[in-house]
Amino acid sequence: MKKQFKKLLVTGGCGFIGTNFIRLLLKERQYEIINLDALTYAGNLENLSDLEDHPLYTFVKGRIEDEELISSLMKEVDAVVNFAAESHVDRSIKSAHPFIITNVLGTQVLLDCFRKAGCKGPFLHVSTDEVYGSLKEDDPPFREDDHLLPNSPYSASKASSDLLCRAAWKTFGLPVVITRCSNNYGPYQFPEKLIPLMIINCLQGRRLPIYGDGLNIRDWIFVDDHCRGVLAALEHGKAGGIYNLGGNCELTNLQVVETILTLLNKPRELIEFVDDRPGHDRRYAMDISLAQKELSWSPDVDFETGMERTVKWYLENQNWWQRILSGQYQTYYRDHYGKDL
Ligand code: NAD
Ligand code: DAU
Repeated sequence: MKKQFKKLLVTGGCGFIGTNFIRLLLKERQYEIINLDALTYAGNLENLSDLEDHPLYTFVKGRIEDEELISSLMKEVDAVVNFAAESHVDRSIKSAHPFIITNVLGTQVLLDCFRKAGCKGPFLHVSTDEVYGSLKEDDPPFREDDHLLPNSPYSASKASSDLLCRAAWKTFGLPVVITRCSNNYGPYQFPEKLIPLMIINCLQGRRLPIYGDGLNIRDWIFVDDHCRGVLAALEHGKAGGIYNLGGNCELTNLQVVETILTLLNKPRELIEFVDDRPGHDRRYAMDISLAQKELSWSPDVDFETGMERTVKWYLENQNWWQRILSGQYQTYYRDHYGKDL
């Protein structure tokens, strides 16, 4: 049975997946949405600027670990979808601190304030396949009841937040639902992640840095499919439920980069093998049968179609990524809102 709620707090809605999720909700549902986002380097208000005056949409700039702000927002909403996070593995290797503050402390503040405000829920926490660690070539895909064996500071912080969510469900009976998804790609992805970085480097005639031997495997899912999975889990997932989401599309990093080279008609010589990422997980793969059965959800977009749409988006939105690369997004914000970020 579909759950009943009217007003949602979506955190991290100015990031890659949050942006796509809010667009999906405003197109296909009638929920009121408060988008709370700290506008870190990865958050871009411009992503949703065309929806600013939408009657069901409100933006609030702020941090999930700000207890005063969160407790006041929780009084206004029934349910929460928590996308807000520090999300990039390489950054977590350089400095884990912001990952602990946002991903661990921030999630606990959300849970505490949700409970104290008596929100009826659900509380949907968006997590990742990286909490399970790494697979060998012949291992079966990750299942929801596998051990959590995170290998990077990023994935360790996400595993911690998953466990805090579980504890809030067990201890206080909060209606928490967790989704764990594989690697997303699509419009609005910040150009530090593999696919947008490689597309943009190709367009600029730059080298394409591939870590190690390029044979690490990721399971790729088009961002719309992930957003539909989160929505299905929000509306139909059971309290305490954990749902793996994935694209059934395991590819090596080399295969991904070769697809981009072909789509953009660029030479393979642009590839440059560089030092490996420390602790680099070798392979991720997801068993999504539980989500298929309980949420009636499956990924829809095949890799070829998704990549054509993605490359087209980056070709048609060069101003978007040029502004990010040149730091002009700060200027956009100032011109638009009359104050500094
Ligand atoms: P992103 O880095 O593009 O966006 C993160 C957003 O959170 C940004 O808008 C940022 O400003 C905001 N934010 C960061 N710290 C905040 C704080 N303290 N308070 C409020 N807002 C804050 O990330 P993404 O790729 O859109 O990922 C969204 C979520 O999905 C994350 O929780 C991530 O762990 C998870 N996830 C991502 C992928 C993927 O492939 N990108 C896959 C599985 C799960
Ligand atoms: O699996 C889900 C996760 O996917 C999410 O939880 C993370 O938030 C998201 O950032 C992503 O993590 P990855 O580390 O897998 O994504 P990234 O795009 O950074 O790297 C994908 C693969 O490509 C990985 O094996 C490292 C490699 N890579 C990455 C970059 C940026 C390169 O070879 N060269 C690069 O320049």
